[in-house]
Amino acid sequence: MSQDSVTKTIGVATGICLFCSLFVSVAAVKLRPRQVKNQRLDRIQNILQVAGLAGEEGDPEALYQERIQPAYIDLKTGQAVSEDQYQPDQVESIPAEQDLAGIKLRPLQSVVYQRIDGQTMARLILPIQGKGVWSTLYGFLALEEDLQTVAGITFYEHAETPGLGGEIDNPNWKSSWAGKRAYDEDGNVVIEVIKGQVDPASSDADRQIDGLSGATLTTRGVDNLIQYWLGENGYGPYLKRLREER
Ligand SMILES: Cc1cc2nc3c(=O)[nH]c(=O)nc-3n(C[C@H](O)[C@H](O)[C@H](O)COP(=O)(O)O)c2cc1C
Repeated sequence: MSQDSVTKTIGVATGICLFCSLFVSVAAVKLRPRQVKNQRLDRIQNILQVAGLAGEEGDPEALYQERIQPAYIDLKTGQAVSEDQYQPDQVESIPAEQDLAGIKLRPLQSVVYQRIDGQTMARLILPIQGKGVWSTLYGFLALEEDLQTVAGITFYEHAETPGLGGEIDNPNWKSSWAGKRAYDEDGNVVIEVIKGQVDPASSDADRQIDGLSGATLTTRGVDNLIQYWLGENGYGPYLKRLREER
């Protein structure tokens, strides 16, 4: 067969394509366990960060096992469920008027994380998610032991534009959440992410967060998801129960 025949060219190209697709498929399958492990480690590190344990020495996994206690809950009733009963895949559709976070489906149960100091809960870490501009934002919001004050926020997965919506990862912006009032004395959600800068002289400054400049849409997405998850259709019933049990 001639070296430059059409048949040979197609044959070589097909061979290369087959080899490459086989290589990519094998790599994807082989690397999957490592990806899953790294995703878990990333979540753990984010939980430790909002739990205020990120600076501690040692293996993050061991620190997590030692200091963080997961609690499984029924979101509607706020009651605890056992780990055996926990079914993260059970979801229901959210009526449009309630779907502040733009997630369409809500889990019936959730896992929250408690930072345990000695015998008592020092921080409560709540998984949060909601629509940004280009992506769903996944993160954690931590409340202090009083269940009213924000301890921290972090997003571990999103695809917002770097420099615009991606500024939700900016450490300065994230640290501005610490100490803000999430709930008032009656358990109403009062925290809000505003457009523009918070006026430090305002009486509302303790419950307001600066909006991200050039990223009003992502800012609005963050505000919406916070309202949703702290509200009646999110962790509201669970937090109410915890407050009543005190
Ligand atoms: C390529 C491109 C990417 C953008 N990415 C984001 C984004 O991630 N988040 C966001 O809120 N706005 C993003 N915007 C800007 C929005 O369209 C909109 O202009 C902005 O949210 C308005 O914010 P401002 O009122 O603070 O100026 C993007 C715009 C362009 C052209």
